[in-house]
Amino acid sequence: MTKTNGIAPHGGVLINRIATEQEYQQFLELSESLPRIQLDERALSDLVMIAIGGFSPLSGFLGEKDYLSVVNDMRLENGLPWSIPVTLSVAKEIAEPLPIGGYIRLDDFTGEFVGVLELSEKYSYDKEQESLKVYLTNDIDHPGVKVVYEQGEVNLAGPIWLLERKEHPFFPKYQIDPAVSRGLFQEKGWQTIVGFQTRNPIHRAHEYIQKCALEVVDGLFLHPLVGATKSDDIPADIRMRCYEILIENYFPQNRVILAINPSAMRYAGPREAIFHALIRKNYGCTHFIVGRDHAGVGNYYGTYDAQYIFNEFTPQELGIVPMMFEHAFYCKRTEQMATTKTSPSLPEERVHLSGTKVREMLRAGVLPPPQFSRPEVASELAKAMRSSN
Ligand code: ADX
Repeated sequence: MTKTNGIAPHGGVLINRIATEQEYQQFLELSESLPRIQLDERALSDLVMIAIGGFSPLSGFLGEKDYLSVVNDMRLENGLPWSIPVTLSVAKEIAEPLPIGGYIRLDDFTGEFVGVLELSEKYSYDKEQESLKVYLTNDIDHPGVKVVYEQGEVNLAGPIWLLERKEHPFFPKYQIDPAVSRGLFQEKGWQTIVGFQTRNPIHRAHEYIQKCALEVVDGLFLHPLVGATKSDDIPADIRMRCYEILIENYFPQNRVILAINPSAMRYAGPREAIFHALIRKNYGCTHFIVGRDHAGVGNYYGTYDAQYIFNEFTPQELGIVPMMFEHAFYCKRTEQMATTKTSPSLPEERVHLSGTKVREMLRAGVLPPPQFSRPEVASELAKAMRSSN
């Protein structure tokens, strides 16, 4: 575990659970004799996030006391804020023979040995409670709730090791782990850094709030999520090309770092906004952008619920400053991006399109207007849509 300069990681220490050379050899020797379980895409990304310190202070999957405390009170048992349960769930029959105190071999979905869990606990949990508390709904159509109901009934807990930190198959250049981003911020001399979470192709409202934030901090950490998303979200490779294009054409290169966030989307709205902020704190950000309906889906959350939830914590215990933005749009009257805080426009003078509407337009071969999307980004999206049809 390394202590780093700059803003403290959540809990004070940046966790490193990547096996040392010696541990790696030891685990390889044991590998054929260990009981094994297969991780799905989300569990695999959680394993990675724990190992690289993105989920500091977690050093493994949550035990029952922490789990209940997170679900009910948005805190770990020691009182530290933590809003999303990070658990490894398996079916009862799989959990049953696994020995407490033993090592479990963790394989990815191709059967490759990727990590180890030292099993400290197995416990059952209440899916309905988890759904209602974390996602604020029990509706199976909610993509986060759906995962809870589809996963196993028993949580396996304990510290983990990631066998090795491999290069990302598609975005090696942008795989910048927390220890590295912290170093980069220091090298650049940035005292204040704003983190930006996104799972959508970048549009002008995103750019506007990023730039508003950048007017008051030293650097922007553009941190798109590339872990599991729901099937109708735009794939990460297309989104990454859009971010590259935007940075190349519309940003001063020396003020932005583009990096991937390997975690999976939960779509937990307010709770996930806290989670997203804490992750960016671990990457070394001092500030975090929370706009309209952050990490929301459908109509499950109020437009600004993900902002109000920050009032449930003191600034000291979160240790990262949220930068809240109202719904941004292009204002035809003042001919610029704005929100109702800065524009006198009537609703009909505002250009804003939903993600669903944009996908519909692209599928029909229509480019979103320049007031909504930079033309270079729009044509990249259209190209990607054409080749996927
Ligand atoms: S999210 O699921 O990752 O939150 P998205 O990529 O659309 O979805 O949003 C990234 C960030 O931009 C979030 O903080 C969100 O609240 C914010 N945001 C998206 N669109 C707007 C908008 N039109 N006005 C203000 N904030 C926005």
